[in-house]
This record gives sequence, structure tokens and C-alpha cells, in this order.
Amino acid sequence: MPLSLPGRFGLAVPHEGKRAAVTDKKSVFIKTYGCQMNVYDSDRMSDTLMPLGYATADSAENADLVILNTCHIREKAAEKVYSELGRLRVLKAARAAEGRETLVAVAGCVAQAEGEEIIARAPVVDMVFGPQTYHRLPELIERVRAGERPTATQGKAPARPKVVETEFPAEDKFDHLAAPSEKAVRSRGVTAFLTVQEGCDKFCTFCVVPYTRGSEASRPVEKIVEEAETLVAAGVREITLLGQNVNAYHGVDAGGRTVGLAGLLARLSELPRLARIRYTTSHPRDLDEALVAAHAGNSKLMPYLHLPVQSGSDRILQAMNRRHTAAEYVALIDRIRAARPDMAISGDFIVGFPGETEEDFAATMDIVRTVDYAACFSFKYSPRPGTPAAALADQVPEAVKSERLQRLQALLEEQQKVFAERLVGRTLPVLFDKPGRLPGQIVGRSPYLQPVAVMAPSSLIGEIAEVTIEATGGHSLIGRLEGEPMPARRSA
Ligand code: 5AD
Ligand code: SF4
Repeated sequence: MPLSLPGRFGLAVPHEGKRAAVTDKKSVFIKTYGCQMNVYDSDRMSDTLMPLGYATADSAENADLVILNTCHIREKAAEKVYSELGRLRVLKAARAAEGRETLVAVAGCVAQAEGEEIIARAPVVDMVFGPQTYHRLPELIERVRAGERPTATQGKAPARPKVVETEFPAEDKFDHLAAPSEKAVRSRGVTAFLTVQEGCDKFCTFCVVPYTRGSEASRPVEKIVEEAETLVAAGVREITLLGQNVNAYHGVDAGGRTVGLAGLLARLSELPRLARIRYTTSHPRDLDEALVAAHAGNSKLMPYLHLPVQSGSDRILQAMNRRHTAAEYVALIDRIRAARPDMAISGDFIVGFPGETEEDFAATMDIVRTVDYAACFSFKYSPRPGTPAAALADQVPEAVKSERLQRLQALLEEQQKVFAERLVGRTLPVLFDKPGRLPGQIVGRSPYLQPVAVMAPSSLIGEIAEVTIEATGGHSLIGRLEGEPMPARRSA
């Protein structure tokens, strides 16, 4: 859920005229790019700023502080940030002409990777800080404001000192995460993310994550349980555990023992009001037997697994440094489905990795047919500065990448459609989380993560009810509450 939604902390109160004192009401607009871990981090930034008197603004136009929480995973994602900064330059100048100041910050993985370069390329930026520095946000803001010069006139933004913070902390990698308050959690609904693991040691040759997020670290069990208790006390019914490589989780519990992801899931499933648990993203090499067994035995663990394979060609998998073969991946999926036969599998694919031939791509199409995915993300290979694959000579032409991506996505789309259609006539437990588009309609999620629209009272939001699926609508499902009479006319 983007932080830009109005009403999360009430309406924005943009201040007029003179510079506000630190405790005055101010507003922040955080624009989140990229993965769910960034969504989680944006919420933590918001939680850090709340005690300083920052409310959430509904747009950058109404904000005293604009934070772009960025993603560096593909070139397009990073370029989007620079075009947004161009827009913010105009906006900042317009607000300055009205005597209103605007601080502009770049956070996240582009900040980590490009630090000083951002300041040089986009002078509108006042602060740049990486993913492990969010707890220091109040101090960083103070540092910028302390050096403030008089507000410039004639539409020019004031000159300011620039603050760049991209250090990885030596000790606790999770220090930067402010604890969520019950009030903030309530405003965010009945599903929540909880980061349990950060960073990655896998060094896939295409990926920037090991450089932007640093090495793998796991949050201690008790800290996670404490945060989960806060979430559940504030009405959260479903928690998705996050990590760049979440199934490499190995946190320490109160007794000093190391606990794997299956153990953590077991601990969390003891929370009575917590109904559902999910986790993402996993690497095939770290999916151990205990986790496979958890899918058979832990009823709160949802039957949905995001397990990227990236390619179906052993040659490409090796060049990607994935350190498993296509057959090993398929065997792992078989073991998971033996443990939980209705498991929905999703994944990520990259087409056009350097050196990928038509034969390699055919192997990717084959593995997709073998696995039969419920959902998938697929991308054209994007050379990332500093990664080994970017330096390879045999880059695939853009037109070839586009054509392969089209073929792959057509197959994945078809599988997703068929997966949804197979559910028609089945009765599924649905966790309702928001009002629907139509009056009298509410929307929830199936165990397989599809949105399900149902005509039902809004009092059911936050509850799980049995729903019979009657139709599919694109990627979503349409159903009726069990025990309710069939409507005369179906509404989508
Ligand atoms: N080019 C294209 N896709 C990439 N991903 C990661 N790095 C790149 C890249 N350089 C994709 C992978 C990964 C997902 C999060 O993003 O499929 O699983
Ligand atoms: Fe990147 Fe995932 Fe590979 Fe880690 S396991 S390097 S996050 S693609």
C-alpha cells in the first residue's frame, strides 16, 4: 500500500509562511518504488517522523518533506527516480516562490548505490540516505535545516548543505527500523509486512542487491515476535514476513539458540488472533526440509510460495551463479507439492541474460510448462553497473529480449488465468481487507493471494469467511458468501 494514501495519519497540514519549529505540524510525502521491503521501510520512516509532528501529505505538492524511497534493481526503476526529481525541482521552486520550503530526500537502493552522484545530477536533492540509516532521519533533517540560508526569492530554491549517509551499520542491521505504533498500524489495515531478514550473500551475477543492501542478517526472534504482537493487537490478521532472501533466516531466540524460518513461523503461529502467515522472497538453495514440512503441518502458513528460478537453462543458471540446476528446482517444487498439494507457485524470470540463445530460452519456456505457475514476474535483463554480468561481452539485443519476453508473458498469463478458472465452483476462506468498487461490495484475498470481490457487509472486513467462487475477472475472483442465496444478477 503506498504511503501517499490520504487519511493514513489524517489530512496533510502544509504550513504557510515562516519556517516551522521542529515540533510544529508538518507533512511528509513518501513515494515508494520497488519491492515490498521498501513499502515496509517507508512505513518505518513514517513512524520515525510521527513523533516530530509530521503528518502524511496526500501529494508532493502539499508536503514540506518529500522522500523518494527508491529501487535500483533494473535500469528503468532507477531512471524513474531522476525523472521524478525533475518534476520536484519545478515544484520546489514554485513552493519557494510562495515562501514555503520543501526538503527533498532520496532514500533506498538508488541512494545507496549512487550517493554523491544524485546530488551532482539533481541539485534539488537535500538529503541522500541508504536503507540502513532511517532511524537517523530526525538528525539528518536537523543537519540540513541547521545550515539553512534565508529563503530565496523570485522562485529560486534556497542553497542548503547536502547530507549524504550511505554507511552500513557495524552492528545491529535492524536498528534503523522504528517500532510501529498501534495507531499507525490500525490506519494501515488488516494485512501487514514484517521484515525479518535483510541483505543477500548469494551474488547472482545480474543483481545489485548484495551491494545495495549488504550481507545477510537476521533479526532476533523476540524482536520479531514483539512487533508481530503489536500488529495483531492493532487488528492485523495476516503478516507477510519479508527478506531479500527470507528463507536464509537464522535468528537467535531468547535462549541463544539459532532458529530457522520454519521455527520462526511456528513461534508466530502461536499468536491467537493471527490467522495467516506468508513469507517472501525465497532462494531455492535455502529451502530446507523443515520449511517444506512447515507447509504440510502449519495451518496458518498460506499455500503460496514465491520461489524464483530466473531461467530454465542450466548453462544460464550457472552463468547467473544460481548454484542449482533446472532439474533440482523442479524436484524441489515436487517435494513442496507432495507436502501441500494445492500449493500455488509464483516466480521471477529474466529473459535475455548475456549469452542466452534461442535454445536456452526454449528451456525457460519448458520449465514454465512443467511447474505451471499461479503468478509470475518476468523481466528483460537489465545490465546493472558493478555487477559481473554487466561486463559480459555477449549482451542480447533489445529487440530479441522484447520478443522473448512477449512469448514468456503470454504463457505465464495463460497459466495465471487457468489457475484462477480452476477455482470456480470451489469454496475458499477469504480474508476481507477493504471495501470494493461497488456499493455493498467488499474485497479480500484468497489463500492463493488473488483478490476476491463479494457482496457482503463491511463489518466482515478483518474477518475470514467461506466464499464460493463463481467467476474470474482478469486476475481477480468473484464469489458469494457461503450460506447467502445466489444473486439474481452477478456484479463484477
Ligand atoms: N535485470 C532484470 N531483472 C532483474 N532482477 C534482478 N536483477 C535484475 C536485472 N539486472 C529480477 C530478478 C529478481 C527480481 C526481484 O528482479 O528476477 O528475482
Ligand atoms: Fe539478488 Fe535474489 Fe540473487 Fe540475492 S538471491 S543476489 S537478492 S536475485
